[in-house]
Amino acid sequence: MTTRRVILTRSAALVGAASTSLLLPQIVRAQSNKVRVGLMLPYTGTFASLGVNIEAGFRMAIEEAGGKLGGRDIEWFKVDDESDPPKGVENANRLVQRDKVDVILGTVHSGVQMGIHRVARESGVLSIIPNAGVHVATRAQCAPNVFRTSFTNSQPTLALGETMVKRGHKKAVWITWKYAAGDEAFEGFRDSYTKAGGTIVKELGLPFPNVEFQALLTEIASLKPDAVACFFAGAGAAKFIRDYAAAGLKGKIPLYGSGFLTEGVLDAAGPAAEGILTTLHYSDSLDTKRNQDFRRAFAVKNKLQPDVYAVQGYDSGLLLLQGMNAVKGDIANKKALYAALEGAVIDSPRGKWTMSKAHNPVQDMYLREVKDKENKVIGIAAKALADPATGCRMA
Ligand code: PHB
Repeated sequence: MTTRRVILTRSAALVGAASTSLLLPQIVRAQSNKVRVGLMLPYTGTFASLGVNIEAGFRMAIEEAGGKLGGRDIEWFKVDDESDPPKGVENANRLVQRDKVDVILGTVHSGVQMGIHRVARESGVLSIIPNAGVHVATRAQCAPNVFRTSFTNSQPTLALGETMVKRGHKKAVWITWKYAAGDEAFEGFRDSYTKAGGTIVKELGLPFPNVEFQALLTEIASLKPDAVACFFAGAGAAKFIRDYAAAGLKGKIPLYGSGFLTEGVLDAAGPAAEGILTTLHYSDSLDTKRNQDFRRAFAVKNKLQPDVYAVQGYDSGLLLLQGMNAVKGDIANKKALYAALEGAVIDSPRGKWTMSKAHNPVQDMYLREVKDKENKVIGIAAKALADPATGCRMA
């Protein structure tokens, strides 16, 4: 039996170190034989820990493979996108126009992703999305140079609604941050919940990244649904879980969510998180050697607890390695590079997954329950789930 949860101490120090390194001067551009890798991730704000774990996972995959991409050394560039959509295009252009990166790894927030996506489509630079689930990126605006290693926003919730009805919850309230990720997560939930015979009695929302949940929790108490389903993530999710319990709803109205609700927040949320059921393409407790080895190595190396974001970063590294090895470092050989990325099979800690034609993972969804500060698998909510990729025509 392996120890799944590694006790950590210096996590705050490491987050601090990660943000200090943002202040380092940009590296000189001369060595053109290096692959220029741009990281555009949140290092401040409610999603800061998500950005830190994505970067740590990405770097770990590359280091495990010897620290090179297709035999070439790497030059790193970094931007804190602050999860701030209005700055998305400008930040992506800093990497593409100013730093002349060969590939952008980013980002977390769906609104910011749209900025990266515009720049990626205009410039043709390789874009790897390690989290943001915004639908159009792999639907109507799918593109040959854009690959996602995470999910579409409705993938986890498509597996959630039916699970809730099967567990006897016929009347639900939905609550989320009102922006693309929350709205699209709702689409998946609505489709699967109503198809299975459930009724959504109320849709509640607040602007991202607002965490004043009190009035909405009071409304939930008076609506008395059978269950609540939600999309929240990062620091805001930890606060929602604590506030839900503090409002007296825990134990009375079961709380469900897409699994982001309980990723990376179990220490911060404390006992209030115990018993929450979620659906996601990863679980801490997946009992495979691949997952356990990854978890141990990540925790030891980074003094941070791995989570789904660390896995998505890691898989982004695995994907880029496969592509760069296939073209022996010649990133300009786009045809062969994209063919390799499209045909990639990723041996991930989440389980093996493949890339759909629209460049989004085809993957299993797990049903998980928080037990003893761990997201434990209690079932498979959907097998080899693919996004419908509506409207995707590769140019
Ligand atoms: C998103 O904005 O697409 C997003 C952010 C955080 C998550 C999941 C999706 O955990």
